Amino acid sequence: MSNKILVADLGEIAPGKMKRVEIDGMRYLIANLAGTHYAVDDLCSHEEVPLYLGCIQEDMIKCSLHGSRFSLKTGEPMEEPATDPIATYPVKEEAGKIYIILD
Ligand code: FES
Repeated sequence: MSNKILVADLGEIAPGKMKRVEIDGMRYLIANLAGTHYAVDDLCSHEEVPLYLGCIQEDMIKCSLHGSRFSLKTGEPMEEPATDPIATYPVKEEAGKIYIILD
């Protein structure tokens, strides 16, 4: 069964910005790309550094440690040294609220 978890109010995260949320001990990033929200794991797949310390560039999150960039839409690494994707999660917007869907 999937869980729909409230993570932000609509309008809370400005375009090009992100918010980190913790759910059951796991951290996730919610990013606003030109008005559409995406959710990914907070940890880099290379050395488990929080991606929250990095920055959003176009539609990617850039790791602050070695500079790998991951697509916020697909989780795919776009540059080495990371070669593994990060997990992505469905996001739902409903009645002025943003939810992440977790299995
Ligand atoms: S820890 Fe993120 S690219 Fe190395």
